[in-house]
Amino acid sequence: MHTCPVFDWEAAWHAALYGPGGFFARGEKPSSHFRTSPLVGPELGVALVELLSRVDAALGFPPVVDFVDVGAGGGELAFAVRSLASGSLASRLRVTAVELGPPVELPGVRWTSAVPSCVGLLVGHEWLDAIPCPVVTGPSSDPWITRWWPSLADGEQAEVGAPRDAAWAAAVSSVRGAALAIDYGHLISSRRFSLTGYRDGRQVPPVFDGSCDITAHVAMDACAEAAGGDWVLVSQRDAMAALGLVGEAAGSGWDWLESAARAGRIAELRDPSGLGSFGWLLHGNGVAVSDLLPALPPWRPIPASFSAS
Ligand SMILES: C[S@@+](CC[C@H](N)C(=O)[O-])C[C@H]1O[C@@H](n2cnc3c(N)ncnc32)[C@H](O)[C@@H]1O
Repeated sequence: MHTCPVFDWEAAWHAALYGPGGFFARGEKPSSHFRTSPLVGPELGVALVELLSRVDAALGFPPVVDFVDVGAGGGELAFAVRSLASGSLASRLRVTAVELGPPVELPGVRWTSAVPSCVGLLVGHEWLDAIPCPVVTGPSSDPWITRWWPSLADGEQAEVGAPRDAAWAAAVSSVRGAALAIDYGHLISSRRFSLTGYRDGRQVPPVFDGSCDITAHVAMDACAEAAGGDWVLVSQRDAMAALGLVGEAAGSGWDWLESAARAGRIAELRDPSGLGSFGWLLHGNGVAVSDLLPALPPWRPIPASFSAS
């Protein structure tokens, strides 16, 4: 990999994903390259409709309630939420997919390329890991590194998370209600350089030519502090259970088969060594986080061996 000190990593990363002909700019969607929770089945959508219902109640049932999916990819999550909402919530619901790549025609989902002001729930599912960062080599006097990656050793590389902090703080401030970032990442106690690529379902070297997705773990604690206010950082495993997503096969015959398939999908979403280890960073803005989720154990990243998109 190129280690020349004048190489502009952030610009190269940005061009590779979002510049002309870039990986996402030209319309590549996660479903062709890696498996994310919205692609497992409808269950993440079920959990987020429950969370949205709690936000709606805490806001006093506004005339229009937003679900905003930032970094929407193929729009699977936005469409699931649109399809699963029912009753009064469904009649007041406005679903927006925010995406830099080309939109996908989906009934009931409007597309935009900029985060709108909204009232309801904003979700960034594997959005922050796709935001390009500068890369530095230690020792570094970069203020973000000094604050958030003090363990950086001489000769080691690090992604500077400042652009993600800024993007998340802006997104949280755009919503009255709640904002949720779901991603893989690390904490100040567990930083590691993680820049990598994905293509056709496989992890590949991060080449900046538009041929692959390029991603790196998110400094979840830095994002939390940057956006501030009332927040919690918990695991997907615990959050899904707190929102009612625990599945066991029940019944008989066809009902059993269906419930077994659902239980399998929930188990995948809650797998402590896989998707269940993702962090859920939830901020309340005008709503108390304790009205949305019960007290749960703090999120801890799993060790280095697992990697996702
Ligand atoms: C890793 S994909 C995740 C897609 C989807 N949320 C999922 O989990 O399947 C990241 C997506 O974020 C989009 N993205 C990155 N930065 C963005 C921004 N500032 N505004 C809108 N979309 C963005 C990319 O184009 C890409 O589709």
